[in-house]
Amino acid sequence: SKTRHFKWEVGYIYASPDCNEKILMGINGQFPGPTIRAKAGDTIHVELKNTLHTEGVVIHWHGIRQFGTPWADGTASISQCAIDPEETFVYRFRVEKAGTYFYHGHYGMQRAAGLYGSLIVDAADGEEEPFRYDGEFNLLLSDWYHQSIYDQMVGLSSNPLRWIGEPQVNASATTGRNPPPTLLINGRGQYNCSLAAHPVEGSNACRPTSKDCAPVVLRVLPNKTYRLRIASTTSLSSLNLAIGNHKMVVVEADGNHVEPFTVGDIDIYSGESYSVLVTTDQNPSSNYWLSVGVRGRKPKTSPALAIVNYRPNSPSKLPESGPPMAPEWNDYNHSKSFSYRILARRGAPKPPQSADRRIVLLNTQNKIDGYTKWSINNVSLALPPTPYLGSMRYRLKNAFDAGMPPENFPPSYDVMRPPPNPNSTQSSNAYVIGLNSTVDVILQNANALAVNVSEIHPWHLHGHEFWVVGYGDGRFGEKEVARFNLKNPPLRNTVVIFPYGWTAIRFVADNPGVWAFHCHIEPHLHMGMGVIFAEGVEHVGKIPREALACGMTAKMLMDKHRP
Ligand code: C2O
Ligand code: CU
Repeated sequence: SKTRHFKWEVGYIYASPDCNEKILMGINGQFPGPTIRAKAGDTIHVELKNTLHTEGVVIHWHGIRQFGTPWADGTASISQCAIDPEETFVYRFRVEKAGTYFYHGHYGMQRAAGLYGSLIVDAADGEEEPFRYDGEFNLLLSDWYHQSIYDQMVGLSSNPLRWIGEPQVNASATTGRNPPPTLLINGRGQYNCSLAAHPVEGSNACRPTSKDCAPVVLRVLPNKTYRLRIASTTSLSSLNLAIGNHKMVVVEADGNHVEPFTVGDIDIYSGESYSVLVTTDQNPSSNYWLSVGVRGRKPKTSPALAIVNYRPNSPSKLPESGPPMAPEWNDYNHSKSFSYRILARRGAPKPPQSADRRIVLLNTQNKIDGYTKWSINNVSLALPPTPYLGSMRYRLKNAFDAGMPPENFPPSYDVMRPPPNPNSTQSSNAYVIGLNSTVDVILQNANALAVNVSEIHPWHLHGHEFWVVGYGDGRFGEKEVARFNLKNPPLRNTVVIFPYGWTAIRFVADNPGVWAFHCHIEPHLHMGMGVIFAEGVEHVGKIPREALACGMTAKMLMDKHRP
């Protein structure tokens, strides 16, 4: 195995991801950031210089466990101090497992500002993944707003709330005033324009004005099998992807092999990644659309399109049939049947047969002093000024709220109705978990503030993978435990809860550090939708000083060195 070195500078750049010029966060002048490609067992060494003018930055390596390097997880206020303008921080960590991953900003809403890129890990030399293909393509999906993230953040923390882009379903009080996002494939999309309806040739409105926003072309040969790596780092949108006339065989989810199954379209939520195999067995004289549409919210956005170009056809030859239609945005049964089909590939590691602890997390939308928030067991996460990893490791007093957050919610709570008392509290308290213990977490969805509204939330766990042991509708009950799938549950790092439903996960807390577990929808996390897990912090090795150079840990370092 090797060490792979990268030297990056994060800064605002001009770009036209959907043919409209804006500023966004690029890396070395590129958007999306450079793709990291490595082999399992390699060490990644990224020297990250912050060239933003007036704000800090961090980068999180989504899906990488950071075993033994919790300070490299790249979460502001949790694993490290944000890197100040003009300063450099070195991220050094091992990638242990082949798979499709990505990285992104994890400070404020910097991910939504465009700070992301792909991280692909191939099998180690001499190892093989259990499927074959002739070529591969990488598709990083995202959504892009014309409103700056500063405008978005101020709107989200205003009273009344000003929601970003897409209005929330039926929630008139929180209707957006802004245009919907553009869906992007590898950082490219077309705003307010459907290429299929307005062919590239002969339409001014939709002719990509720069190569920044020209549709992605997948150049294929007939009768071959291709691996499509698909990851979603959307700020908000849940997506559905399909290719005209072609079927897909799902083989990987979040860096884990799944029992292969064939579908016509896949759902993908923010924070997830998949690999699918596609065989180019259709009429080779035509090209085909690959289309990405929105799930779970009434789409105001036209789908993002890419072209599957059968060689030797010209890539600008328009497909003979229109782009595949995404299922109805609110056809949750379609989404559920896809999620329920994802199971571990035969021979994958099985979960422990019982858990040491169960934490039930009720997801609700609430109010604090009139401001709209998301809360977990009625606590909305407010991150502390001193990152937990340093303050816990050095046992600093009063660095964050003392006491454990609640492990459950009242039995009388009706998940089908808006909260009877929507007032919640804000806190920075953390769940401390016994090292190497097995934990079940039940994510319980509920009604949001408006009647008849319950949203999809993709939950992502840092530092671990978890087994998805069960899903259900309505309120989770004790009897469900006996029905958990302990035989072939899939291992993942992100899982969704469906409207009014629950999802059960199991993981082993074997990675000393402090880890975020949160909804991967950027505005939801910003509104408090997350919790903190800490385990075995006394076993954490030497934290680099640069990760501690803020808040109470900075004072501690200065006091130590005072002559
Ligand atoms: Cu990809 Cu904490 O997120
Ligand atoms: Cu959410």
